[in-house]
Amino acid sequence: MSSDFVFINEVGPRDGLQNQKTILDSSDRLKLINHLIDANIPGIEVASFVNPKAVPAMQGAHEIMQGLVDADECEISVLVPNLKGYELARDAGAKIISVVPSATETMNQKNINMSLNETITSSCNILEEAKSSSIKTRAYVAVAWECPYEGKVDSKVVLDIANQMLLSGADEIILADTIGAANPSSVGLLFKSCVNEFGHEILSGHFHDTRALALANVCAALNEGVRKFDSCIGGLGGCPFAPGAAGNLATEDLANMLDQMGYVTNIDLNKLSEIVLFCEEQLQASLGGRMSAWLKKTNKAS
Ligand code: COA
Ligand code: ZN
Repeated sequence: MSSDFVFINEVGPRDGLQNQKTILDSSDRLKLINHLIDANIPGIEVASFVNPKAVPAMQGAHEIMQGLVDADECEISVLVPNLKGYELARDAGAKIISVVPSATETMNQKNINMSLNETITSSCNILEEAKSSSIKTRAYVAVAWECPYEGKVDSKVVLDIANQMLLSGADEIILADTIGAANPSSVGLLFKSCVNEFGHEILSGHFHDTRALALANVCAALNEGVRKFDSCIGGLGGCPFAPGAAGNLATEDLANMLDQMGYVTNIDLNKLSEIVLFCEEQLQASLGGRMSAWLKKTNKAS
């Protein structure tokens, strides 16, 4: 893969929608996913196999998997919080799953009702099971910089969790700034350590834009050689279990910045701005990314 290519993994249908006031049913979420595929996004996290009582907006993951059109060009993944979620995802035909250990005790308790040790054991078991079924795997390390309950996170803990995930067969590690507390210096430092330890090819960044630092954080990670990032159409997002987590980095802003800097994403920016409009209509809300207003203006002018 060329060093100019940056892989954008769209997490709008999952991270973006899980915390919205308006709940979209699975057929509307499928429409969104199909629009995203049509805009040539290389990866999409389409659903999470969680308890619908815990996250009502994610109800219907099975229907979403069944309704997906063949999209060989797009890496479709789903999030699984526990073994039950993994089994449901596998049975629904998932080809890529993500586990989501958090770096602190309290965040794991609040998010998935397990201790840190239980979460790591459970995630490792899932990764091993997936490997034996030839399912590709992604492992998040959530609250990798700061936890809403326990404050700053020691980078040694993050490296240790990442290492355990890799030893259990994770194909990718995503460092997640779940509440948007990181800054370009802390992002650069943590990614530098991870790149030294694991190499940049398997690393990815997931940034929330709570304090308008997400694009700067991407630049810091790019400088360390990272070429894979999560983002959310329209800057949707937030975690129901992490107070203060605002929207994710907007996909259209990320794709535009990378394009302006000479990186290749293969994404159709004009189609992204149409998808932002689609989401605004569906959710009856105006969304946060900055690039769609610009595109609307230039489209009108031309
Ligand atoms: N999918 C669907 N249902 C699930 C499930 C899953 N992955 N895991 C557990 N359940 C169901 C059980 O079958 C049980 O159902 P019942 O009440 O009808 O018998 C119920 O949930 C409780 O099961 P238990 O094993 O005790 O789970 P829990 O209450 O400890 O909940 C989670 C654990 C992880 C399923 C739940 O906390 C959850 O879904 N959290 C969402 C996490 C999330 O999405 N965070 C944001 C993204 S990181
Ligand atoms: Zn997130």
